[in-house]
Amino acid sequence: MSDSERSPKVAAVVAIDGPAGSGKSTVARLLARRIGWFFVDTGAMYRALTLAVLNAAVAPEDEAGVMRVLSGLRIDWKESREELCMLVGGKAPPELEIRSARVSASVSAVASHAGVRAWMVARQRELLGRGALVMEGRDIGSVVFPNARLKVYLDASPAVRARRRLLQHPEAGLDVAQVEAEIRRRDRRDQERACAPLRVTAGARVLDTSDRTLDEVLECLEEWVHEE
Ligand code: DC
Repeated sequence: MSDSERSPKVAAVVAIDGPAGSGKSTVARLLARRIGWFFVDTGAMYRALTLAVLNAAVAPEDEAGVMRVLSGLRIDWKESREELCMLVGGKAPPELEIRSARVSASVSAVASHAGVRAWMVARQRELLGRGALVMEGRDIGSVVFPNARLKVYLDASPAVRARRRLLQHPEAGLDVAQVEAEIRRRDRRDQERACAPLRVTAGARVLDTSDRTLDEVLECLEEWVHEE
């Protein structure tokens, strides 16, 4: 019997996982507003760490170096509307920089270190003390909250995901083929890493958003929250 079958469900968590560009952030943020829970973007946490690693001129593959940078970060949380944002050194990490191609290219390597993942998971679990959570990432339903009230795996085809990424972040200055190639590379790395790989976990409901509008996806998820 798995852990998630043995223990009771955590009533106050919706876990949303899926690959880059599947619509997780937008969907999770809007769902949180609809049901009045806190949205948490865990990818932003890995991105903020990656930016600090690059700024310290540490190689993303150098686990000891990455852990050194991590131990020097002073982190905090800010509640703004229905969102819990991680602050680093009292400041929100700069959006443009954490979403840049430079950070996107290195974040999987930083996120593959076991020490990094253990630290992130501990911080993410602590947030339950702040209130009910809609948390999105890659391992929320499989590792962080295997007993979440609702576990969702959002998916979409790589081409659709690349187009969405471009609409969201045109400032990166890439074309659709470059973004799709980058997404496929990152999927592969996230799915193949030894520690907490991206996968559909036991008990998760899968929703392919390729041909669905945002409203249709939100309607569906809200219904699932009430069913669980
Ligand atoms: O969701 P995103 O594209 O902002 O995430 C950035 C990277 O962080 C992604 O390539 C994998 C990693 N990540 C992770 O390993 N676990 C999470 N819970 C969230 C993100």
